Amino acid sequence: MAEPSNKCFIGTFIHSKKLDELEYRHDTAVFVDSHGKIVAIEPLPSSSDQRAAAITAVYDHLQWRDSQTPIVQYECREGEFYFPGFIDTHLHAPQYPNVGIFGKSTLLDWLDTYTFPLEASLSDAAKARRVYTRVVRKTLSHGTTCAAYYATIDVPSTNLLADLCLGAGQRALIGRVCMDRVGICPEYYRDESPEASLAATRESIAHISRIDPLMEIVRPVITPRFAPSCTTTLMKGLGELARSTQLPVQTHVSENKNEIALVRELFPPALTGAVDDTYTAVYDVFGLLTDKTILAHGIHLSEGEVDIIVERKAKISHCPCSNSAITSGAARVRWLLGKGVCCGLGTDMSGGYSPSVLEAARQAALVSRHVAMGGDDRAKLSVEEVLYLATRGGAEVVGLEGKVGGFEVGMDWDAQLIGLSMVPENEEEGEGVEGEDGGNVDIFGWETWPDIVAKWLYNGDDRNTKKVWVKGRLVHERK
Ligand code: GUN
Ligand code: FE
Repeated sequence: MAEPSNKCFIGTFIHSKKLDELEYRHDTAVFVDSHGKIVAIEPLPSSSDQRAAAITAVYDHLQWRDSQTPIVQYECREGEFYFPGFIDTHLHAPQYPNVGIFGKSTLLDWLDTYTFPLEASLSDAAKARRVYTRVVRKTLSHGTTCAAYYATIDVPSTNLLADLCLGAGQRALIGRVCMDRVGICPEYYRDESPEASLAATRESIAHISRIDPLMEIVRPVITPRFAPSCTTTLMKGLGELARSTQLPVQTHVSENKNEIALVRELFPPALTGAVDDTYTAVYDVFGLLTDKTILAHGIHLSEGEVDIIVERKAKISHCPCSNSAITSGAARVRWLLGKGVCCGLGTDMSGGYSPSVLEAARQAALVSRHVAMGGDDRAKLSVEEVLYLATRGGAEVVGLEGKVGGFEVGMDWDAQLIGLSMVPENEEEGEGVEGEDGGNVDIFGWETWPDIVAKWLYNGDDRNTKKVWVKGRLVHERK
């Protein structure tokens, strides 16, 4: 690892102020200390002499020049800007080899056909290492500085995923997947009993707590795969574990109509004591609906279910790529936001076909337009709104509100340097080289900054993500 340094980033910084507003800070310097914390943000004068003096004055104020720690300066070039790192609030690391492979399946047959066999095969340690190494590298290269991962039921490889995230410097929630129900989970990929599932979960929590005791980079997350895969005994045990450890919980809710019918069949209120026969009530009765619960999808929720989600302060991970790919439905994000639900974005790889949160943001915008075409024009999400969900919204979903997701003094420097290609003024036809400066989205110089961001959202990809930092550490650089 590189030796710790204090850092000064100079250029244009763009981040969300609130749901529908991006803030653009040009000619600005952001000072990040050797622990990765933003300690000062200063506007700079335009003349280069005055600029150097202003930066030096901040160094002195921070007593950086008296310390042994080196100072590194980074300056944006034309067409570049800093943006907060993306937060993927829901994805399945073991499913990465299956991205794009889903045919015409829907959730329940997709699980049986594509997903369970692949996940089960990752109990092979060498295979798991190969897949997980690549997942972490790939998501970092797309600017994902924090990810809420589901692993598999296998403890050693789940722990390996945590080791790899910590080593690569990617913030992560790591969940050992719990699934013990006979008849839903295949015999070849099932916890032997609720007790075995709980013991394996505790073992993985202990490992993750040992490798990062302050949970600065990696954290365990209690992960009942989804209600149908768990027995009532396991659900109860996991709820008790969530209460006693105060750890976050992640699971799926209301993704697919057949899945909802299955929950109704498997968990009748007469059996569970739940207030009604809804999917959400099942999690609630077992103590799995907390202010640290991340519920993926939430497509077909009723008014009453959303009310209880808001009351418990549980969060929703909107996964538009997955919802379209395996034809689960179109989540009504405007409605959820309007009811006060805290929402973020998830790639849900490989239900979702892409490891990119930028793609999830783009699809969130498009899916919202399909909802709008259903009759309510207000459903449309703007560029600003989907980028909020990808950063600040996601931070709140994973319990890191105020720590990451924006550029403020006191927050950690979890950021990406975005570069678009500036087309030269006098370019002769045929002479330009595509992506000359590392970007692939052309800008001509007449676009406004909101236009530039819109072009990035709708046309950009990992070629535009030139550098990525987590907690001040450079974790990806595009060569
Ligand atoms: N429901 C239960 N397991 C899964 C999964 O792996 N992906 C999705 N999208 N939904 C699920
Ligand atoms: Fe999922």
